[in-house]
Amino acid sequence: MTRILGIETSCDETSAAVLSGHGDRASLESLVILSQDVHRIFGGVVPEIASRHHLTAIVPVVRQALAYASATLDDIDAVAVTHGPGLVGALLVGVSFAKALAFGRSVPCLGIHHMEGHLFATALEHADAVPPFIALLVSGGHTLIVDVERWGEYRLLGGTRDDAAGEAFDKVAKLLGLPYPGGPHVERLARDGDPARFRFSRPMLRRNQQPGDEDFYDVSFSGLKTAVLHAVRAGSADDAPHIARGFHDARVETLVEKTARAVQQFKRTRVVLGGGVAGNRTLAEAMRHRVRRLGADVYAPSPRLATDNAAMIARAGLFHFDRGDRAALDLNAFAALPLPGLVTA
Ligand code: KG4
Ligand code: ZN
Repeated sequence: MTRILGIETSCDETSAAVLSGHGDRASLESLVILSQDVHRIFGGVVPEIASRHHLTAIVPVVRQALAYASATLDDIDAVAVTHGPGLVGALLVGVSFAKALAFGRSVPCLGIHHMEGHLFATALEHADAVPPFIALLVSGGHTLIVDVERWGEYRLLGGTRDDAAGEAFDKVAKLLGLPYPGGPHVERLARDGDPARFRFSRPMLRRNQQPGDEDFYDVSFSGLKTAVLHAVRAGSADDAPHIARGFHDARVETLVEKTARAVQQFKRTRVVLGGGVAGNRTLAEAMRHRVRRLGADVYAPSPRLATDNAAMIARAGLFHFDRGDRAALDLNAFAALPLPGLVTA
């Protein structure tokens, strides 16, 4: 059995977790997530402030994760840390801390791709959320549709051409006068909206698209955002729930349909949702409804594991540890980083 300390500081959550196990049998012993509320007053994450907050928070957050797991540093076999993609200054705090800790304790250090972490998050709560599956990863910075034949082998099918799923939610929330981060607020407001009032177009969603077409799996949200902007300018305050509903429906339908295409093409029976937007209940329900007809089940993480957390980093770390991967002491942080293990065939 291996015990991994996970560390995540890629954006505005300082998080640490202790996880133990082997292969797909992993159990989470502790998870601490400190969200930096300070960014709310700026309506978005301020990178410099995020880095400084990680610096003050990292030691107590790791200490608390160890304490909750009734563990000491002597019990840790490896340290897994997010090394990209994300805010470089924020990532560097976690990476430097993890490297120093691993070096000081003479244990291996593992650099984990943030989105690979999101891929593993749902497996912490659902034993069946393991490959083979189609993944829809929807976070503040990314939108990816991936076919996962086995852990560590990722066939990237599509992604966003412009705004990420969460980013689009946050921008529309701002247009509607809702707080940051906007996703949950837009979801809530949309529930009171009339779906027939604002029907926005579904970009990149045409019936005659074929596998192999460049836009078969890709999505685009900036046009939708502009349509919302025009609707907000032309409408009254009473229209807000209806506009939110129109936006929400267009978003959900696009993501669900693109994922269903992948389920069909690769004949998968599982869909795994990951990333902050995966905490959106309406999306998970619509996905369930759509792919059930194709014989597939949908696994979504709880909001706590959907958003950024170190448990998913420790879980991905366990996989890489078992595989024998080890980071050197020159492990660096990267704002942009390709998903590891990409396969093309
Ligand atoms: O994965 P995440 O915590 O951070 C990144 O890695 O970017 O995702 C955060 C994003 C934010 O844009 C937030 O608005 C969105 O996830 N989000 C939601 C919901 N909860 C969080 N979007 C839509 N519906 C939600 N319920
Ligand atoms: Zn994330």
